[in-house]
Amino acid sequence: MADYQPADTAFAVDRDCKTLARHVLEQLQSFGSEAQDISALMNRLALAGKLIARHLSRAGLVEEALGFTGETNVQGEAVKRMDIYANDVFISVFKQSGLVCRLASEEMDKPYYIPENCPIGRYTLLYDPIDGSSNVDIDLSVGSIFSIRRQQGDDLDQDAKDLLQDGRQQLVAGYILYGPSTILVYSIGRGVHAFTLDPSLGEFILSAENITVPPHGPTYSVNEGNFWQWEDAIRDFTRYVHRHEGYSARYTGALVADFHRILMQGGVFLYPGTVKKPEGKLRLLYETAPLAFLIDQAGGRASTGTQDILDVIPTELHQRTPFIIGSTEDIALVESFIQDHSRRLQNTMTPN
Ligand code: AHG
Ligand code: MN
Ligand code: MN
Repeated sequence: MADYQPADTAFAVDRDCKTLARHVLEQLQSFGSEAQDISALMNRLALAGKLIARHLSRAGLVEEALGFTGETNVQGEAVKRMDIYANDVFISVFKQSGLVCRLASEEMDKPYYIPENCPIGRYTLLYDPIDGSSNVDIDLSVGSIFSIRRQQGDDLDQDAKDLLQDGRQQLVAGYILYGPSTILVYSIGRGVHAFTLDPSLGEFILSAENITVPPHGPTYSVNEGNFWQWEDAIRDFTRYVHRHEGYSARYTGALVADFHRILMQGGVFLYPGTVKKPEGKLRLLYETAPLAFLIDQAGGRASTGTQDILDVIPTELHQRTPFIIGSTEDIALVESFIQDHSRRLQNTMTPN
C-alpha cells in the first residue's frame, strides 16, 4: 500500500486549521495545565469577539443597540449601550469558564468577582470592552483590549491590590479590531500574531505570524485638537513633523485602530498629558500596558515620555498614563524633544 499522498490543497486545509487554540499550544510547545489554560482563555476571548462583532454588524437594525445609556462610568465618561453590551459579553463568556477569579473592566468601578456558585479560576481578565466608543454610532472601527494576569495571593478582602503591578507581569495581551474584517491580535510573550475571523467557519484563522513593527514609519497619530493644552515639548515635536517631508497624520479616535496601523506600518501614536491633565486620558491596566506588551514583542516601544510603560506600577485600578507608542526611531524622536525641554528647564532653574 503506497504511503498516503495529501492533495495539493492540503496546505490550504491545514492553514484553515490554524485556530487560536492550536496556535497557543504550538507556541508553548506544551500541553501542560498552564498551556491548556491559556489556550482555553484565548478560545473564550475569541467567543467574546465573535459575539461583539455580530452585534456591531447589526447594530443599526437592532433596537437599543446604538446611542447612550444616559449613565456616566467611573471614568466620568458618558456610557454607550455597546459599552455595556460588550462588558456583559465578557462577563457571560468568562463567568462559567472556570478560568478566572475576577474581571476588571474600564466600565466597572470595582472588579467583578466570579460568584461562589461558579467555578473559580487562577487568572484575572482586565479589559476595555469597547475601545473607541465614539465611533460606534457612525459605523467606524472600534476594538476590545484585553490583558490576562495570574492571580497572586488570595485577595480575601477583594481590594484587588495584587493587580497593581507592572506590565511585564502580563501573561497574555491583545486586542480585537472590529473593522472591515474582525482581527484578533495577541501575544503570550513569544511574538505577536494576528487571526482573522472567517465568518463562514466562525473561527479566527491565523493570518499574520511574528509581526514586527518597522523601526520608522510615516504616520504620526495624535488628536491635534489638544495642541494648545500640550506641554511645549510635544508642541515642538508636532511642529517638527509639520515642517519635515515624509510624515502623514492619521487619527481615527479609536486607539485600537490607530495602534493597528502603527503596528503594521510603523510610526508613532501619541496621547500625551495636558497641562490640566498631565496623566493623560488612556488607562494603564487595560489600554496602554497591553498594547505596550505587544509593541515590545514586535520590536517597538511604548513610553510615558519619561518612563517605559511596561515599568509603570499603578497605584489604582483605573490609573491613566501619558502614552507614546510605536517605532523605536519615532519614539526616540519624541523623547528627544522631551529631554531637550527638561534640560532647558533645569538650566533655567540652576543658579549661575
Ligand atoms: P474608550 O472608547 O474605551 O473610552 O477609548 C477611547 C480612547 C481611545 O480609543 C482613543 O484613542 C481616545 O480615547 C480618543 O480620545 P479623543 O477623542 O480625546 O481624541
Ligand atoms: Mn479605550
Ligand atoms: Mn472603552
